[in-house]
Amino acid sequence: KEDDSTGGGSSGDGGKAITLGFSQVGSESGWRSANTTSVKDAAKAAGYNLKFSDAQQKQENQISAIRSYITQGVDVIAFSPVVVTGWDAVLKEAKAKKIPVVLTDRSVETSDDSLYVTLVGSDFTDEGRRAAKILEKVIAKAGLKGPVKIAQLEGTTGAAPAIERAKGFKEVMDADHASDWKVVVSQTGDFTRAGGKQVMAAFLQSNPDINVLFAHNDDMAIGAIQSIEAAGKKPGKDILIVSIDGVKDGFVAMSEGKINAIVECNPLLGPQLMDVVKKVKNGESVERWIKTKEGDFMQDQAAAALPSRKY
Ligand code: AHR
Repeated sequence: KEDDSTGGGSSGDGGKAITLGFSQVGSESGWRSANTTSVKDAAKAAGYNLKFSDAQQKQENQISAIRSYITQGVDVIAFSPVVVTGWDAVLKEAKAKKIPVVLTDRSVETSDDSLYVTLVGSDFTDEGRRAAKILEKVIAKAGLKGPVKIAQLEGTTGAAPAIERAKGFKEVMDADHASDWKVVVSQTGDFTRAGGKQVMAAFLQSNPDINVLFAHNDDMAIGAIQSIEAAGKKPGKDILIVSIDGVKDGFVAMSEGKINAIVECNPLLGPQLMDVVKKVKNGESVERWIKTKEGDFMQDQAAAALPSRKY
């Protein structure tokens, strides 16, 4: 789905407007919608000519969007890769045409570091670690005794946030909870509400004694809550829930007592991305990874934080 969202104008400094080709993952979650709005708004504010396309979570769509940006000769290409592998060929084509590539939100695995300039986005491994650390607090607060039986709803298989959040969480679990915590079931819910709902229903059938859910995003947690309630259990009490993102709907569920804690992952990357794109276009050097700053929230902070949530 291609949608040239801004017509372009002046760059604001008298030069020709920058043409930016942006390939978005899809529209799988509240986080993603907020990210898309942020990118479009920031491009408009910066006076860029933005060529935007939504890949509907398919790598082949992203590759053809990037190819089309190369053919059109855009100034800079930015994209949020749906999965980590399989990009070298198209990135080499961009390099051959001297079009710089900026990654945003998610990273790639590549044999050649020169194929992209920088990544603007979060540290997902650290988000996984933070989720495990905040789960310690949630468990202590709830007074949960006995073995902790965790269900994990993973993000899209092969995507950086799914791989790295699971890794960071496991790191803390192996180091500090090898004897008292266990991930008893783990499966992808593809970062969607429908996926979270469906997979959680299956988890509850196969493992009715689950007492913790770690969801890689709020949307899957919200879907899972529906299945937990349908099974006659209380989310946030019978099953303690920690998720990642911090979208408004996540905060609403948390203020209703249904999610116990949220690790924030900030989608409002547009303004930072536009700054970087300009620097890259002008040949200035930029850091290899421009990390996003984020916070963690316990349930008792939800009601106060909700009105000021920006996404
Ligand atoms: O890459 C960021 C992740 O993608 C978000 O956590 C999730 O909600 C989104 O779909």
